[in-house]
Amino acid sequence: MKQIRSSQRVLSPLCCRSAMAAVATSPLLILHPRRLTLFATTLRPFSAFHHHPFTFHTLTQTRLPVIFASTSKHHSFSTSPLTTHQNYISNATEPPHAGRSGSVSSPPVDYAEPQQKIDVNPPKGTRDFPPEEMRLRNWLFNNFKEVSHLFGFEEVDYPVLETEALYIRKAGEEIRDQLYCFEDRGNRRVALRPELTPSLARLVIQKGKSVPLPIKWFAVGQCWRYERMTRGRRREHYQWNMDIIGVPDVSGEAELISSIVTFFKRIGITAKDVGFKISSRKVLQEVLSLYSVPETSFAKACIIIDKMGKIPMEEIKKDLELVDLSTEAIEDLLQVLSMKSLTELEEKLGGEGEAVSELRQLFTLAEKYGYSEWIQFDASVVRGLAYYTGIVFEGFDREGKLRAICGGGRYDRLLSTFGGDDLPACGFGFGDAVIIELLKERQLLPELPLEIENIVCSLDPDLQGAAAAVANALREKGQCVDLVLENKPLKWVFKRAARINARRLILVGSSEWQRGMVRVKILSTGEQYEVNIDELE
Ligand code: HAM
Repeated sequence: MKQIRSSQRVLSPLCCRSAMAAVATSPLLILHPRRLTLFATTLRPFSAFHHHPFTFHTLTQTRLPVIFASTSKHHSFSTSPLTTHQNYISNATEPPHAGRSGSVSSPPVDYAEPQQKIDVNPPKGTRDFPPEEMRLRNWLFNNFKEVSHLFGFEEVDYPVLETEALYIRKAGEEIRDQLYCFEDRGNRRVALRPELTPSLARLVIQKGKSVPLPIKWFAVGQCWRYERMTRGRRREHYQWNMDIIGVPDVSGEAELISSIVTFFKRIGITAKDVGFKISSRKVLQEVLSLYSVPETSFAKACIIIDKMGKIPMEEIKKDLELVDLSTEAIEDLLQVLSMKSLTELEEKLGGEGEAVSELRQLFTLAEKYGYSEWIQFDASVVRGLAYYTGIVFEGFDREGKLRAICGGGRYDRLLSTFGGDDLPACGFGFGDAVIIELLKERQLLPELPLEIENIVCSLDPDLQGAAAAVANALREKGQCVDLVLENKPLKWVFKRAARINARRLILVGSSEWQRGMVRVKILSTGEQYEVNIDELE
């Protein structure tokens, strides 16, 4: 299986490590205007600084210079890859870079008045990440990544744009109707990924036997779903995924749940705030096998059952009848789905079946890991994706105010649906939106002020070069420095130092400079001293 032909890259664990500092290039594509009926939107063809709403608005409103760097530690920011189409239509004769692909689809819409004021909001359901939001996002992602490393997982990434076929399953999943899909200029059907699991499966098949099992990979990537917007549900979100390929036992699921619990504990969430509902699709399979329900109806029945609580029960029953379930089978199934105790389930299905024995094993392992208080059996959890085959789980907020925080399970037969050889697999997806809502609810959001240790300023315009040399000498020693780039009064410099939470102010004045010295002021105490520039640490 090949990824779509374009300049997109799949970053394997090795590449990820070596390309840590690389800025991921955005797909160079303009959507076909007739196909995209939702908005006149386009994938950003380049990270255009002057297209960023901040430069139009905030920069003109602020008195402080604003320095943005898409990779810098302190001032990083991000804009939505999907932006309104107009934002890329300018008066310049040069077309956006996308036009160079030699593609055949029609050019972007010509707006009657190219100079009309653009909409400075990102498309509905998408987000910009100005610096303070970006600091929060980085904090969250660093926690995702550090926990994954603690558990010995390697980082991977895949293109945001994939072939549409990767997401077309026949079970009637919601995710299919929510797909951002279109035809590219080479007439290929493509989609913005709504989840990461199919890309993972594609890469595992592509790598074949070259990767030793078990594979333990994690990724943090943006996903797109044209979803009805509710609290914590957006049209784009980032997902942290951890997946284990090649382990058939529930030890895989136990390890995955442990990693999520570790993450929660790190960020201050306890078992009083959050729990995991756990069940197995094998429960349903065993019930349905009692009524000779065809295998082909299984995934469809799971998708219908996942809608319980979201649509009226009468509709659920009707839909189940449509996938060949008898009234008797439906009643029995619904009775089993209401079970909240493993003992009750065992009484119904017996202790020998895989469903009960795997669930028992998982709960025993949870005791050994020490996270029993976080988990509970709940037969109603089936999950809304067709490919799950065994244990399924969902993280939920115990106050019941928010939607699922995370979810995952076993999907042992996904690879063969893409033409590969099946391998046992399990994993989870954890979104960035609901957890932030939960942290807000519990007042656990971290304070993440901007912190740049040093501010360097020349006291004379002629010494701007000297100040730059001092700043650079410090940077070479690993110190973060904000260099004042214009001739500003000291009052302004102190104000800026306070805003960036600088620890030291380093003043480059002519009398000191002539002696090879600079003046250092410790801002918390007011202490001042002169220091030789070579000795500045
Ligand atoms: P999912 O349940 O569809 O599973 O999504 C996983 C998580 O992503 C959700 O629990 C939620 O935190 C977040 N999420 C999903 N949709 C949205 C949205 N529209 N807005 C905000 N957050 C959202 C999967 O995607 C599976 N591929 C997970 C998986 C990985 N299973 C095995 N490996």
